[in-house]
Amino acid sequence: MDDLSSIPPTFRGDVESILIPEADLQTRLAELAADVDRDYAGRDLLLVGVLKGAIFVMADLARHLTIPTAMDFMAVSSYGASTSSSGVVRILKDLDTEIEGRDVLLVEDIVDSGLTLDYLTKNLRSRRPASVEILSLLTKPSRREVDLPVRYVGFEVPDVFVVGYGLDYAERYRSLRDIVTLEPSVYGG
Ligand code: IMP
Repeated sequence: MDDLSSIPPTFRGDVESILIPEADLQTRLAELAADVDRDYAGRDLLLVGVLKGAIFVMADLARHLTIPTAMDFMAVSSYGASTSSSGVVRILKDLDTEIEGRDVLLVEDIVDSGLTLDYLTKNLRSRRPASVEILSLLTKPSRREVDLPVRYVGFEVPDVFVVGYGLDYAERYRSLRDIVTLEPSVYGG
């Protein structure tokens, strides 16, 4: 049995196990930030967070960085209450800023099929930025449907549905500090 003491009591019954504890997330984000610091030193870096899942990755990564950065956000349609990709991507909120000539780092929570980021990177490249790269906290390589280069990866996870640290199931569990799996009963199993 996992020690679920970091999970608020109201959610504890829904959590099956802790896949990545908060401390490991923070250690890895600090390592990724050191890589980004080194790679983008002296450049004009714009961090683009993909709402809503990337909010905590963005917040913690940005605070580990020591180079000056600007932040912007995009929102795209997601899976809703289903746990698999429809392949349909719709921009719900676009960038506030022009990106022509700038270095853009897309900040994501998880790359699953890769369809969302494949669409987003193509869309952003059409605006003629200096560069577009991807940083994702998690990746599920076994689920990939498109060839998508992810420059910075936090952790590889198996083909299981995970929530917490920004990731949701039907808009719940985003606020959990750890990456966790849910009991099958939560999905009606
Ligand atoms: P993709 O287009 O299939 O790569 O899906 C990317 C998006 O699907 C992520 O930004 C998440 O919003 C969502 N997603 C994929 N896998 C999971 C998961 O295990 N838990 C929660 N959301 C997920």
